[in-house]
Amino acid sequence: MTCLDSFAEITRRDEPLAPYTWLKLGGPAQYLMEPRTTEELVGVIKCAHESNVPVHILGDGSNLLIRDEGISGVVIRLVSGDFSNIEVKGEQVTAGAGTLLSHVISRSVAAGLTGLETLAGIPGTVGGAITGNVGGKSGEIGPLVESIDVMTSTGEIETIPAELLGFGYRKSNIDAAVILSATLKLREGDPNEITKRLRKLWIMKRASQPLSSQSAGCIFKNPPGLSAGALIDQAGLKGTRIGDCEVSDLHANFIITHENATSADLLRLIDLIRSKVEDYHGVRLELEIKIWGN
Ligand code: EPU
Repeated sequence: MTCLDSFAEITRRDEPLAPYTWLKLGGPAQYLMEPRTTEELVGVIKCAHESNVPVHILGDGSNLLIRDEGISGVVIRLVSGDFSNIEVKGEQVTAGAGTLLSHVISRSVAAGLTGLETLAGIPGTVGGAITGNVGGKSGEIGPLVESIDVMTSTGEIETIPAELLGFGYRKSNIDAAVILSATLKLREGDPNEITKRLRKLWIMKRASQPLSSQSAGCIFKNPPGLSAGALIDQAGLKGTRIGDCEVSDLHANFIITHENATSADLLRLIDLIRSKVEDYHGVRLELEIKIWGN
């Protein structure tokens, strides 16, 4: 019996996590918890800290591979209203960490604000976007961030200004237990121009990425000055399959998971891609997706 048992109403034990991820792979969470309010989240975080139980925050599961064995400790989903508000005040947009980035983009565009439309088509929640400084060719979220609110592992809430967040290519240095919300600084723009840019990005993305297949987006980060997709493609790996996992024919940095795929197969395919690309190009690819599990 631990203090975690007092959160029975918001807890599912041994809950399969595959349905919560885009890859639809992986085993269960020991505890899956969905706090309804910030106060409840404080309780869960403090209890986990005192009981020495690891805590993982699950966003939209779009950039995540969970091992087949599952994951011990607490997995938290921030889906209630407290964590999914969007507030627009002049050129400032504040969004809860559990909000889908796509929703924040739509709200900003509707309010005639420019900046965020460059991230059109990027999946995931605001919390995930900030942690991994998501982006693409047209920009990243980091430069748009003014500050974030976080919760420490002892349950205190703090505001951290952007300059302390250490944004780099697909990374930040945020080590708080939980990101609660982010405040972005956008600019007023011409709504027609913003919508045009948004549409153009979408069309380009749809033409070059297998968006209708089951995947986690790009698997590897781009090495400095290079494209991981092009390197994998040039190494002749498009269409390579292990079990029911397959390197996309459309974009080689995407792995498609078919019906009977397992995390073990996907991990083997990742290893194969890495070693072939290293043999062929002498470049070691770094993972962009996160891997959870024991
Ligand atoms: N290319 C190939 N073969 C392939 C894939 C790409 O030759 O199989 C070539 C393309 O022709 C192009 C170059 O590689 O000349 C770059 O490809 P692309 O324009 O598709 O961009 P990318 O660098 O592969 C990045 C992000 C994407 C983002 C796009 C568009 C990374 C790792 N990837 O892809 O982000 O959507 O730019 O902005 O930074 C993601 O992070 O999950 C993701 C998909």
